[in-house]
Amino acid sequence: MTSSAAAPRTFRVGIAGCGAISRNHLAAFRALENVQIVGVCDVDPDRALAAAEAWAVPNAVTTVDELLTLDLDIVSVCTPHPTHEEVVLKAAAAGVHALCEKPIATKLESAERMVAACEEAGVQLGVLFQRRFWPASQKIRAAIDDGTLGRAILAQCSVMLHRAPEYYNRDAWRGTWENDGGGVLMSQAVHQIDLLQWYLGDVAEVYGKVNTYRHGDYIEVEDSATAVITFTSGAMATLEASTAVSPNLGIQLRITGETGASASLTEFPEGSDGRLDLWAVGEKIVVEPVHPEGAEPNVDLSAINGQLVPFHTLQVKDFVRALETGTEPAITGKDALKSLRILLAVYESSRTGEPVRFAPVHAAHTSIPELRVGQKVEG
Ligand SMILES: NC(=O)c1ccc[n+]([C@@H]2O[C@H](COP(=O)([O-])OP(=O)(O)OC[C@H]3O[C@@H](n4cnc5c(N)ncnc54)[C@H](O)[C@@H]3O)[C@@H](O)[C@H]2O)c1
Repeated sequence: MTSSAAAPRTFRVGIAGCGAISRNHLAAFRALENVQIVGVCDVDPDRALAAAEAWAVPNAVTTVDELLTLDLDIVSVCTPHPTHEEVVLKAAAAGVHALCEKPIATKLESAERMVAACEEAGVQLGVLFQRRFWPASQKIRAAIDDGTLGRAILAQCSVMLHRAPEYYNRDAWRGTWENDGGGVLMSQAVHQIDLLQWYLGDVAEVYGKVNTYRHGDYIEVEDSATAVITFTSGAMATLEASTAVSPNLGIQLRITGETGASASLTEFPEGSDGRLDLWAVGEKIVVEPVHPEGAEPNVDLSAINGQLVPFHTLQVKDFVRALETGTEPAITGKDALKSLRILLAVYESSRTGEPVRFAPVHAAHTSIPELRVGQKVEG
């Protein structure tokens, strides 16, 4: 079904991949009145059948080709990272819009092919970064736009998580460069990297290091990373990310704007809705405890996905709204390319020991215009 056809009153949806996160997509689409989930697909037939039964979906199939015979408008891509490209390219070829789980892909070329294929086919490609839909993250975006914070100049992002060995051993694709594409940056911190670039804009340069401190016996990829990121606006950010932390310290992203005002967005325990633990505007500072007393830090991971459902639902709703109105979804494939490019640059920088440069800094936005990104300071 091509997008050039009149917008259908009911959108026919198929779910590709019936693992953990597919439940969020099933719940989110099920919550919408003008959507009918017509098929689920998994290479594991038992998983496809179980999902069809649990959600009363009429068709359970084992290939994306079969799924695409169901006259779909939308395919939700809930398969492992390196398979996203194949599913999205098939959807685009069939004229079906795709809503793809993060990260868009594990390789830049894959992601670029996905974006190009959807553009050529005239279908929308959305990528799931549901943390942007928290009221607290929206409030920071609004404060940047309305001048309360103004243009962001500094950010500090800390993604300090706990993962047990069972997490990596649960599925064969986890923890390998080939099938997971990366570690904490690719799977977890990609959400916060998306928020960083949403708030601070285009990236000029990335310098980073990755390491594997505690999970090295069963994963190849990094369990820890640090980076210094410079933006074309002249803004600067630091990032630390790890799954080697015990107990789990959660996630914090602090932004300072050109007005000098600051805001901090905290997710603790992991999986809870983001909240503003610091709002320092003018003379007034509102501070809340980052780690409230009594909160259980090492939460059950299966419970985390369930807690994300309201925000998956908001993004799914936005995607359907975009199709109804013929506009772009809030987070497009092109947007998702940006977080992938940044995290891949951390890997490259760690490999080479050199910063990775994307673009010059606009000198007008820094007070030291003679100092360019990457330039060595003499003396
Ligand atoms: N947005 C979020 O917060 C969030 C949270 C968790 C996972 N995710 C993302 O969702 C995606 C899936 O993660 P998951 O935890 O559900 O993984 P999972 O391993 O639990 O589920 C993946 C499913 O896809 C199936 N599959 C594999 N290849 C397939 C193919 N070619 N066609 C059809 N089915 C196929 C597998 O059999 C499996 O059932 C990943 O990209 C992951 O990063 C996002």
